[in-house]
Amino acid sequence: MSYKTILTEVDGKVATITLNRPEVLNALNDQLMEELGAALLAFDADDNIGCMIVTGSEKAFAAGADIASMAKYGLKDVYRDDFITRNWEEIKKVRKPVIAAVSGYALGGGCELAMMCDTIMAADNAKFAQPEVKLGIIPGAGGTQRLPRAVSKAKAMDLALTGRMMDAAEAERSGLVARIFPQADLLKEVKVIAKGIADMPLLTAIMVKESINTAYETTLSEGIHFERRLFHACFATNDQKEGMAAFMEKRPAKFTNS
Ligand code: CAA
Repeated sequence: MSYKTILTEVDGKVATITLNRPEVLNALNDQLMEELGAALLAFDADDNIGCMIVTGSEKAFAAGADIASMAKYGLKDVYRDDFITRNWEEIKKVRKPVIAAVSGYALGGGCELAMMCDTIMAADNAKFAQPEVKLGIIPGAGGTQRLPRAVSKAKAMDLALTGRMMDAAEAERSGLVARIFPQADLLKEVKVIAKGIADMPLLTAIMVKESINTAYETTLSEGIHFERRLFHACFATNDQKEGMAAFMEKRPAKFTNS
């Protein structure tokens, strides 16, 4: 499939999707979000792929929703046509792990898109912000909901009320970012991590993702119950038999994703 606003690359079991509107710092318009959703779902359906990376350029992961498009919007465009929901949420349907590799600006919708991914790895030049307040809007792609869950209420309020930028070190300290790498090494390092994840038994990786994501949607006791049932289900997979046999026999496991 050919896309106009993203680039796709497959290396072994890892698919990398690069946001590619460099002239506007990867501002997220309808076309980009539709293409990103289509690419993610296509890789999710591809049995040869085990993990996906979403990344941008050295200067910008994404500088937010496309302000030039939004400036023209009226109530019909946003409410009747369900702006954001209409094409930003395909990523939530993806079962396999998705890593955001963030270099440069991840602002507004860019920060929110990174947070929709399963984990965020950042370059040392990364900058995160929810600057929507300066445009007379609030974050509309989950920023007021996912950010406090990631970094605390105090810091989410600080970021979303002032619109200030948070650098990579602060983002890692705050829990938004899992790991930081020198900018020049970011993609190489994230691909190594993604390959390691893609080599894990796929059903188990999907269960890990589903169970951790459930922690954000439910009570502790319901979440523990859900985890326990998935844990039990692992014992019906061939990969549990193989993983444990390989450990006992002191040999590498040969998973079959079954
Ligand atoms: N939408 C559309 N175009 C954008 C953009 C955006 N979010 N961000 C940058 N651009 C464009 C600029 O208009 C500029 O285009 P021209 O060359 O045609 O003028 C080009 O990208 C380069 O940008 P700058 O010249 O501004 O580059 P800079 O290095 O001086 O500044 C920046 C970089 C600090 C990221 C600055 O561009 C900026 O503040 N951008 C807007 C960030 C923002 O407010 N994002 C939130 C959007 S709202 C949102 O995302 C809502 C939501 O919750 C979904």
